[in-house]
Amino acid sequence: MQIDRNRIIDKNQDFILKKVNNFSVFQSFSCGDTDLNDFIRNDAEKHRNELLAETYVLMLQRADVPIAFCSLCNDAIQFSKDQKSFLPEKKRYPYQPAVKIARLGVDENYQKKNIGTYIIGLIKHFFIVDNRTGCRFITVDAYNEDRVLAFYRKNDFQFLNQKDTKKPTRTMYFDLKRLIT
Ligand SMILES: CC(C)(COP(=O)(O)OP(=O)(O)OC[C@H]1O[C@@H](n2cnc3c(N)ncnc32)[C@H](O)[C@@H]1OP(=O)(O)O)[C@@H](O)C(=O)NCCC(=O)NCCS
Repeated sequence: MQIDRNRIIDKNQDFILKKVNNFSVFQSFSCGDTDLNDFIRNDAEKHRNELLAETYVLMLQRADVPIAFCSLCNDAIQFSKDQKSFLPEKKRYPYQPAVKIARLGVDENYQKKNIGTYIIGLIKHFFIVDNRTGCRFITVDAYNEDRVLAFYRKNDFQFLNQKDTKKPTRTMYFDLKRLIT
């Protein structure tokens, strides 16, 4: 695996994950979710121009066709006093630095083939290697649907609290420190 800043080439899998420059490649992309399709086709570029989110695309190296995308932005996570006990006492700041998976979509034809899991793995990698700033957690406001929550649970995300069980999305997080010995 070759990791450059903002780009990962996985020669074993023939995949490349890179920052999107040309958003027109997504015009025929569909992950089966209307809001996410609308975002990637019409809004993702505007978000980048406003410095609100950066979008990455997973492609097969030999074809210029997107298989999946994810948009990332900075975030901060606030734990309750009890939850913070896993942090060293002097590091229990009110907010902990995080990166948020703002949007994630896998092409309908590639779903349930571990592509989403593969991307989450790449994002985890991205934020423990060569960081410009401290980033301890990955967060996501996951659709409150069994299949989506199961997906993030499978990828070792935890629920932040039980306050959002009836909301359309649930906040989940992954502690990147788990990957650093
Ligand atoms: C959710 C999504 C990103 C998952 O990516 P994926 O590549 O399909 O998922 P993976 O193959 O890596 O993981 C599959 C796991 O996710 C869950 N899952 C994903 N799709 C599922 C479905 N349609 N039905 C049931 N479980 C599903 C299951 O836990 C599954 O594990 P299993 O195969 O052991 O049962 C993708 O299905 C997608 O883009 N969906 C539409 C958009 C969306 O809902 N995005 C999430 C926004 S928060």
